[in-house]
Amino acid sequence: MQTQRLRIAIQKKGRLSKECQDLLKRCGVKFNMMGERLVVHAENMPIDLLLVRDDDIPGLIMDGVVDLGVIGENELEEVGLERAARNEACDYITLRRLDFGGCRLSIAIDKDADYNGPQDLNGKRIATTYPQLVKRYMDDIGVKFTTCMLNGSVEVAPRAGLADAICDLVSTGATLEANGLKEAEVILRSKAVLIQSTETISNEKQALIERLLIRIQGVIQAKE
Ligand code: PRP
Ligand code: ZN
Ligand code: MG
Repeated sequence: MQTQRLRIAIQKKGRLSKECQDLLKRCGVKFNMMGERLVVHAENMPIDLLLVRDDDIPGLIMDGVVDLGVIGENELEEVGLERAARNEACDYITLRRLDFGGCRLSIAIDKDADYNGPQDLNGKRIATTYPQLVKRYMDDIGVKFTTCMLNGSVEVAPRAGLADAICDLVSTGATLEANGLKEAEVILRSKAVLIQSTETISNEKQALIERLLIRIQGVIQAKE
């Protein structure tokens, strides 16, 4: 279903949502986030914002349901690997890396555990929301492990006896600290990125994307 309006998927609530909305506003896109709406129409440009869970954004782009999306590279890579493994479409175009959402995906272990390198993870059970990225990393270094898949509260898994280690996003490190964990290995450094679907779109839409990109460039430069 093609519409005339450019569709941009952004995170409804979470780490990227505020900065993402701020960026769009600084680019001159006028909109009013009211209530619990899924679609918000921009008032001064042919743009619709889709407010969704960040986990859904890569798939919406790869299936060509929306034109643009703002997403963390961590989520984008995880979903890409998952879809590739299932032989589903996993193409997208990265338009620009953004200046927010910085974090790292790290393996963390009990803060008192003795740690001498990745070999010490051999045979461990690792709790994570990112099983594909963990598997890619562990396969690369040739270390065996098992997974404990959790969509939330990953950091409590070791204490709860569900896993030996975790692999989760670290930003300030406060969550690890609060849960008696320490970072053992960084497996990915991530930032928010603006991505586009590979679907063919109208010249008008493509021109609007080019204009937006120039404005984004201006907004980011002004902050530097
Ligand atoms: C991530 C991660 C940790 C926290 C780490 O969660 O799961 O809970 O951030 O940040 P810190 O190092 O600054 O403490 P996020 O806020 O992305 O939400 P989620 O857990 O719902 O994915
Ligand atoms: Zn998520
Ligand atoms: Mg969390």
